[in-house]
Order: sequence, then structure tokens, then C-alpha cells
Amino acid sequence: SVSNLITIDGPSGSGKGTVCHILAKKLQWHLLDSGALYRILAYAALQKNILLNDSKKLADLALTLDVSFVSNGTGVDTLLAGKNIGDKLRTEIVGTAASEVASIELVRSALLARQKAFLQKPGLIADGRDMGTVVFPEAKVKIFLDASAEERAQRRFNQLQDKGFNVSIAQILSEIKERDYRDRNRAIAPLQPADDAFVIDSTELTINEVVEQILTLTELKL
Ligand code: C5P
Repeated sequence: SVSNLITIDGPSGSGKGTVCHILAKKLQWHLLDSGALYRILAYAALQKNILLNDSKKLADLALTLDVSFVSNGTGVDTLLAGKNIGDKLRTEIVGTAASEVASIELVRSALLARQKAFLQKPGLIADGRDMGTVVFPEAKVKIFLDASAEERAQRRFNQLQDKGFNVSIAQILSEIKERDYRDRNRAIAPLQPADDAFVIDSTELTINEVVEQILTLTELKL
């Protein structure tokens, strides 16, 4: 079994995505962006007009999705049936739809094997909501990365503005709070720190400070 494994869970806007990319690159390990899987599923469901509460159809779709992640020069292309849909996945509509399909138990179990398959040599950084609690409970280093909702809304706002989206920060804050509430309070695999997770609050930290903290911790525990 591969023991080089760091799980990083937390709410959206906590800096997880960026931190995970940097760590995977520094360590030359694989990266699992599990949120992307839920987003791809939601995107595919919206395209096929599958209702977001149709558990059976969503689970079938989850089992048969033809997805691959291919690195390009600067990042990773997300291919759905060979088509790059990376730039379609980061919208709030898809994020909210992802959080709806993610509350369905059949969907989560359908995506489990796909996620576990990412654990390959030389190691894996696993980014999500339930990496340390459900998908990789055996991980020796588990991080829970948090930040205040206001700070997370500000970060998302900056990101979206950089990409040219016209958005209001008040709306982002309310969407973030709504999605958080759903993710933290759902019956199946709710967003919560594993008992043995190390909690980092990034509200007042830079990305590099978070990365350094995690690397220090990794040296101590791996
Ligand atoms: O991290 P990201 O914002 O891309 O995730 C989108 C949604 O997918 C989250 O709001 C959450 O509901 C769901 N998700 C999940 N479990 C994961 C990763 C994401 O339920 N491991």
C-alpha cells in the first residue's frame, strides 16, 4: 500500500485547491481534486437534463462517467468524453449543483472506488470534504483547512473577477454560506475534521504560510 498520503479537507475558498496544487508539485505526488468529480457529475447531469435528486440515474452516470485529468503546461485539463470542460466547472451554478448531488449516498458510493484509485506511488495529495474521514481514513497526515466565510467570499470574488466574471460579493457570501450549511449538515459524509486531523485556520495566513505549516507537519509525522 502507498503510505505517502496527505488529505486536505475544508470548505470552499479555504485555499485548499491552490495549496494542494503547490504541494503535489513540490513533492511530485499525484493530486486528487475530488470536488472536480462532483462538479463534473453535476455538469454532465445538467447537460443530460437529469434531475439533481434522481439518485438512481445520477449514480449510474457517476459509475459510467468517462473522465480523465491530463496535465498541460500550466495546470490540468479536465476531459469529459475527451472534451476539455475545465473552464465550465468553476461556476457557482455547477458548484451548487455539485453540492446537491454530493448529498446523495448512492452517488458518493459510486464515486468511492474512482477516488481510491488515485492512491498511487510515489504519493497522493487528496483534496476534498471527506478525504480524511471517509475516502482515506488510513492517512497518517490529515489537514482540515478552514477560514472565515467573509474571507473565503473575498477570495472567491477576487478569483472570479480575475477570470472576468461579473459577480457581487454579497451574493457570493450568501452562496458560500448556503453551500457550507449543506456540506456540514448533510447526513452522509458531512464536512467535518477527522478526529485526528490537524486544523489550520488560513484566514490570516498566506498560501505559502499554509504550505510551510503542512510541510513541517509532514516531516514530523510521515
Ligand atoms: O471543492 P469544490 O468546491 O470543487 O466541491 C464542490 C462540491 O462538491 C462541494 O460543495 C461539496 O458539496 C462536494 N464535495 C463533496 N466531497 C468532496 C469534494 C466535494 O461532497 N470530497
